Amino acid sequence: MVKDYQLREKLSVAAKGQKFVQEAPVVIVVCAQTDNHTMTCGQLSYPIDCAIAIDHMTLAACSLGLGTCWVGAFYEDDVKKILDIPPEIRVVELLALGYPKPSAIAPKPRLPLEKITMREKWQNL
Ligand SMILES: Cc1cc2nc3c(=O)[nH]c(=O)nc-3n(C[C@H](O)[C@H](O)[C@H](O)COP(=O)(O)O)c2cc1C
Repeated sequence: MVKDYQLREKLSVAAKGQKFVQEAPVVIVVCAQTDNHTMTCGQLSYPIDCAIAIDHMTLAACSLGLGTCWVGAFYEDDVKKILDIPPEIRVVELLALGYPKPSAIAPKPRLPLEKITMREKWQNL
């Protein structure tokens, strides 16, 4: 978890200049120490494990009236240098955490469930 302003400023640059990374009072840097375990289905475990953890953080933050934004657009090697993260560790995602603008609180329009779910077998939606 990074609160230091100067570090957040550097992280913002590593995140391709995304200003909100610097403006958010906290940036959670989600890292994995991994042996690159692959599940039987062929997917790597660690990005999925991290995504589960991040999603729980987003929900917990929301329940506290806070806002989050996933940040996947960043240069991993730059983030590692800024935070002294060892080479064998993967930086999977940054999560900016802060107080949302009132305009960001309103629910967004969503596709109806029938447009994104299939029942029983594959269907061309
Ligand atoms: C894996 C992942 C990476 C993302 N990376 C970025 C990012 O680098 N910068 C950004 O502004 N938003 C990023 N987002 C957030 C999306 O732009 C979007 O705001 C968020 O997923 C909410 O989607 P919604 O509009 O469907 O609610 C990312 C989201 C995900 C899931």
